[in-house]
Amino acid sequence: MSSIIIKHFFHPDSSTISYLIYDLISLKAAIIDSALDYESNSGNITFDFANSQIEFIKQHKLTLTWILETHAHADHLSAAYYLKSQLGGKIAIGKYITQAQQTFKDIFALNDAEISVSGKEFDQLLSHDDTLFIGDTAIKVIETPGHTRDSVTYLIEDNAFIGDTLFMPDSGSARCDFPGGAASELYQSIKQLYELPDNTKLWMCHDYQPNGRELQFQTTVAESKQSNIHITDDVTLDSFVTVRQTRDNKLAVPRLLYPALQVNIKGGELPQASDHQPVFFKIPVHILKAEDQND
Ligand SMILES: [Fe+2]
Repeated sequence: MSSIIIKHFFHPDSSTISYLIYDLISLKAAIIDSALDYESNSGNITFDFANSQIEFIKQHKLTLTWILETHAHADHLSAAYYLKSQLGGKIAIGKYITQAQQTFKDIFALNDAEISVSGKEFDQLLSHDDTLFIGDTAIKVIETPGHTRDSVTYLIEDNAFIGDTLFMPDSGSARCDFPGGAASELYQSIKQLYELPDNTKLWMCHDYQPNGRELQFQTTVAESKQSNIHITDDVTLDSFVTVRQTRDNKLAVPRLLYPALQVNIKGGELPQASDHQPVFFKIPVHILKAEDQND
């Protein structure tokens, strides 16, 4: 019988579902995909959401062992660094985060002191088939690129925490138009997930509650194979890529893309204030000509 408990925390501002998974025997815990509270108009960052997880961990006398990212998110700021500063634990992410670091080092014109391209801001870089542990419970790493190159799934018993690969069946799949993303790779990653046993639970990183329906964040391999609006089991690579690219062409840039990436490629570390000087996020400016806008 399983000794793990899965508790979800919903972050409404970014529609993120963060998971706390803990082992009842060892009381060791992992958090997957944490979030800071960031108000972009004022630049205010607060810690209420992460603090609610910290409070739960303290109440239940848990030890936070792992702070895991499914990928470098573009829609919310990770609280990994903050959680580690409060509770300890190791921050881990897929090893191809180094590619995202290089890409965004260039985009933000960061210097070598501001960002490595070696992933050293993280405690551990993960490869396909790596195994981590919370107590005696194994967390198997499955590389699932496509949405981003660094994307991984964490498989704990029959629970797959899939990040942004699939959404709930009525919502389809994640966009593939970020640097390092590729619809054809996402197809292969989803097919890999569809090879898991049918009763495997798929836990979403986001749910945007289409048409105002109630929050849903867990489906199964069988349900997704049967009814996902972008990719049932019989959808071909070509048709998935066409659907995905058509949709991606219509999607707006995520509201928090630039602040989020500046923090998330550093494991959630915030810009450092020195000598009481203010700190800033950078926003690249693109001056478009009329013909660019008509593309
Ligand atoms: Fe994402």
